[in-house]
Amino acid sequence: MTDNVQVFHINTRSSSAKAEPVKVSPEAQKRAEEIIKQYPQRRSAVMPLLYIAQEHTKYITQSAVEWVAAQLEMPPVQVWEVATFYTMYYKKPVGQYHVQVCRTLPCALRGARKVSEYFHKKFGVQPGEVTKDGMWSFEEVECLGSCGTAPMCQINDVFFENLTDEKLDQIVARIEKEKPDLRYSTVKDELGAGLAGCPKSEIMNS
Ligand code: FES
Repeated sequence: MTDNVQVFHINTRSSSAKAEPVKVSPEAQKRAEEIIKQYPQRRSAVMPLLYIAQEHTKYITQSAVEWVAAQLEMPPVQVWEVATFYTMYYKKPVGQYHVQVCRTLPCALRGARKVSEYFHKKFGVQPGEVTKDGMWSFEEVECLGSCGTAPMCQINDVFFENLTDEKLDQIVARIEKEKPDLRYSTVKDELGAGLAGCPKSEIMNS
């Protein structure tokens, strides 16, 4: 519902209220230009460029949309349509660690509700909210493609699977202590180091 409100807002925003495109780093600008060259049509690079913008703005702001649209010579509303379709693009501020709990049928049958309740009780936030210290946020999303290791969640860009309350306790405690890099950088084209000793996905072991 919130996303629909924002889409309406962008669709109807007058040109005088238009946001300035975000200024990304020279490194990110260079990477964007490299990516655009890989496609026969500029607009086909919309998804990796949204990632680059999100790395700078932390979530998809109107300035981020304007930057992507300017690079790809396409209407901002079409960029926004892509951003709102995929849950890996955050449409509002998130915590340093953003948890996405899969709630689709295979995960639901294997305890997704309990996983959501765990985060709700642990952090005292509802889906879509950020903890006061800015460290955690969580939301429920549809299938993340790891149904064989349900129930699962994604924290930033790393999967955590076959979840139980005990396992979640360990994961959360370690993240709070170790502050690992769980992000994927499109600019560097690499996933962060993850949680030391934990697989970045258990799919291959299941
Ligand atoms: S249903 Fe949860 S990952 Fe597919």
